[in-house]
Amino acid sequence: MSNRIEGFAHLAGQTLRTVSFTALARYISRNAARYDGDGTRVEITKPVPGTLTLFQNVLKLQAKDARNVRDGLYPIPIEESTSFVSRIQSVRRMLEDQAQLSERRAEKRSADAATLPEAAGMPDYYVQNFHYQTGGWLTEESAKLYDIQVETLFLGAAGAMRRQAIPPIAEFVRGRDQRQLRLLDVACGSGRFLADLAQAFPALPMVGSDLSQAYLDEAARFLHGRRNVTFQQANAEALPFESASFDIVTCVYLYHELPNEVRRRVTSEIARVLKPGGLFAFVDSLQWDDVEGYGGLLEAFPQRYHEPYYLDYLGDTLDGPDGIFAKSGLQPSSSFPALASKIVICRKAA
Ligand SMILES: C[S@@+](CC[C@H](N)C(=O)[O-])C[C@H]1O[C@@H](n2cnc3c(N)ncnc32)[C@H](O)[C@@H]1O
Repeated sequence: MSNRIEGFAHLAGQTLRTVSFTALARYISRNAARYDGDGTRVEITKPVPGTLTLFQNVLKLQAKDARNVRDGLYPIPIEESTSFVSRIQSVRRMLEDQAQLSERRAEKRSADAATLPEAAGMPDYYVQNFHYQTGGWLTEESAKLYDIQVETLFLGAAGAMRRQAIPPIAEFVRGRDQRQLRLLDVACGSGRFLADLAQAFPALPMVGSDLSQAYLDEAARFLHGRRNVTFQQANAEALPFESASFDIVTCVYLYHELPNEVRRRVTSEIARVLKPGGLFAFVDSLQWDDVEGYGGLLEAFPQRYHEPYYLDYLGDTLDGPDGIFAKSGLQPSSSFPALASKIVICRKAA
């Protein structure tokens, strides 16, 4: 298939995806009102994009994703479920979980995960029920629920947001022998971004690391057959890799889950394991003032989902000249939004 046809095919698929996830999100939020009671109420002081604007912005991102496919920057991605049956299974799983998740949210109960056996030896900040998620980050059930929940939250655009970090990586890789490079995805979770990377750069050796063995197991299942990808359980605060051992480090949706001082330790570790001249691709939530008119959405998020460090993240200085990236030796070269996310590309001094 030529890139142009692939691009059209992807656009059609992604548009359908947005429509179906929007319907699912509406259904979930109506259902949640039944369970949540007061748990659904949020206080917002900043502007929020209207539903139509938001929907249009999701479609614009999907169109950009399709243009990237057309331009040969990455192939049509394998989204969270490769078959209709597995998609239906994950929707069913999410709906079955909704009552207990909503109950946790209504009671603002975020410490259940700390009582699980898997929590032993893990940092205190980590063993919380982020998002009021069943099992926190610790169980197989949580790892199986995560992607459908995240995609529903972002109206089917979570994958497309992550993929906006691939073109700068492709530019870095262009003209080099992929087999001689090494990439690390820190806090790879269930491996969806790694899967996109592995498709885009099939000969490039990659390591996915995460503190959750359950999420690594799900990632390994999803990436089954990709021989260039391996996994290692690791705390991002103390990465078990040699200094200057990776050409590319990526990190997606981790920083907003971390306390302020941990964010700094993780950044130093990323800078340490990156080779001089190496590339760091960061993807996470927008911060205050990144995009006009989105402040209300950022305000609402930690009220609806247990996100104890999110407000601190929103105001943290990451990518400016005095930001934590530059202070760790990671010089930001570009920073741009992708719907509700921001992408920051940094280079370590050669
Ligand atoms: C919001 S998820 C993001 C997962 C994935 N990168 C994605 O794009 O969906 C956050 C992930 O960070 C991991 N995590 C949180 N704190 C961590 C730490 N200190 N070290 C390693 N992984 C951590 C969690 O286990 C979870 O898989």
